[in-house]
Amino acid sequence: MAAKGRHGHGPPSMTVESFITLAFAVLTMVCFVIIVLLSFGVFSVSNGRYSHASSYRAHDLSNIAHNTIHRDGGDVDYDDDDDGRRGDQWVEVISFEPRASVYHNFLSKEECEHLINISKPHMFRSAVVASATGRVTDSEVRTSSGTFLGRGRDEIVRNIEKRIADFTFIPVENGEGLQVLHYEVGQKYDPHFDFFQDELNLRRGGQRIATIVMYLSDVEEGGETVFPAARGNFSSLPYWNELSACGKGGLSVKPNMGDALLFWNMKPDASVDTSSLHRGCPVIKGNKWSSTKWIRVNEHKV
Ligand SMILES: *[C@@H]1O[C@H](CO)[C@@H](O)[C@H](O)[C@H]1NC(C)=O
Ligand SMILES: *[C@@H]1O[C@H](CO)[C@@H](O)[C@H](O)[C@H]1NC(C)=O
Repeated sequence: MAAKGRHGHGPPSMTVESFITLAFAVLTMVCFVIIVLLSFGVFSVSNGRYSHASSYRAHDLSNIAHNTIHRDGGDVDYDDDDDGRRGDQWVEVISFEPRASVYHNFLSKEECEHLINISKPHMFRSAVVASATGRVTDSEVRTSSGTFLGRGRDEIVRNIEKRIADFTFIPVENGEGLQVLHYEVGQKYDPHFDFFQDELNLRRGGQRIATIVMYLSDVEEGGETVFPAARGNFSSLPYWNELSACGKGGLSVKPNMGDALLFWNMKPDASVDTSSLHRGCPVIKGNKWSSTKWIRVNEHKV
């Protein structure tokens, strides 16, 4: 019996074979069960990136404090050595309706001061474009004073305009000249759209696809930029309690010297985006200086 067990070719090899067959059958069945479970969505194959994307909620503003791209000032070279140092730079996506983001420390303190200094001697009462006629008129809707700076007027302005083009992916040539604005206590800009609703203004460069607002000063109280038609739970914002009553009327951005707010007046399908409605809240305490660049769909000839 012992010899048979050692030298025989029958029963022992049959056992190995049937073991392999059994193992294969079990494996096949397990695979089948997994495929069935997957197809019914009982569980899913998860991948860090995709599972994050699927759990990301566009209008959940509680993500704001965390969903930031941190940039070390030293890693970004904007040839800004001449214009003084900018602080740490990072971009926050603040809303998807309208599409808006804040680029922190977009400008250095010296760049802000330069824009104010060259504008100060040329300030005049701000006007608005009448939507029916496309003509420019004085208005109680907008009580600030301001001035336009020709595109590329000096090296600092050219650097800023290049930086805006890099950030927005839209060429410098599509930008209108910078507008510098000054709001004193009580001055404001009522809710309005930046896109044109008349034909006249569309002739030179087409629609205003995007707006970038750069804050050139801090404002002690008030002066927020508010999007009253934005979607989202605004009261979950970390700085909610610092906002004025006007600032609590929608999604708000507090003016901080050097920060730039970018928002899109047109949707990706090229129709105008009515959720881009915005206002400049009255300044309650302090002074607000800001600079706006409107960016056209096509080249804006100067
Ligand atoms: C702006 O003007 C003020 C006052 O004249 C001056 O002290 C300051 O150095 C100027 N800043 C820049 C960047 O030109
Ligand atoms: C909005 O956010 C506040 C503060 O985080 C929270 O108390 C409230 O429940 C939220 N509302 C909704 C509708 O999610």
